[in-house]
Amino acid sequence: MESYATVIVRRAREADLDAAARTVAAVAQEGYLGAQPPVDLEDRIERFRELLERGDPAGLWVLEDEAGRVVGHAAAHESVPGVLSIGMAILAEARGQGGGRALLTAVQDHARATNAHKISLEVWTDNARAIALYAAGGFEVEGVRREHYRRRDGSLRSTLIMAWRPG
Ligand SMILES: CC(C)(COP(=O)(O)OP(=O)(O)OC[C@H]1O[C@@H](n2cnc3c(N)ncnc32)[C@H](O)[C@@H]1OP(=O)(O)O)[C@@H](O)C(=O)NCCC(=O)NCCS
Repeated sequence: MESYATVIVRRAREADLDAAARTVAAVAQEGYLGAQPPVDLEDRIERFRELLERGDPAGLWVLEDEAGRVVGHAAAHESVPGVLSIGMAILAEARGQGGGRALLTAVQDHARATNAHKISLEVWTDNARAIALYAAGGFEVEGVRREHYRRRDGSLRSTLIMAWRPG
């Protein structure tokens, strides 16, 4: 953590929506749970805009690199009263510098501030990197969804349900 370059996470603004949607489109090429290619950018921008307009406890955060370029995002919406469901993605070239941890911490701080009693997410069972990040952040496995998601290539994929509760 102390060896990481400067990592900036902040709440998204309208001007960030296009870049945030583009992070989804890029990561979708890797088999991202949150979107499959081709990603409809306009639709994704509209979904992100709706999060901004809805306001707390929903939220959208962006990760900036040192040049001020948006290289990642985290999105949260209240799926059940008091429960924030989240998704996040960082461009491949911007990973491994603490951005995932910083985005997660921002959402956890937000959960505390808005009195959420839980943050919940789903992650592919083979996404070791993300699972390690969430576990390090205090998330616990609540369940497994076996062969739950049919992807466009016809494959059936499994997820872990992971959740965190403020201490
Ligand atoms: C998951 C994701 C957001 C993590 O971003 P990141 O930039 O790697 O995050 P960080 O740099 O904060 O690293 C997270 C931790 O994972 C660890 N890690 C890195 N590569 C790893 C790997 N291959 N396997 C296991 N752990 C790994 C790091 O050591 C780090 O732990 P540390 O903070 O104790 O050093 C990013 O990889 C990503 O966007 N992936 C594609 C989309 C995705 O999977 N999103 C999550 C869907 S639920």
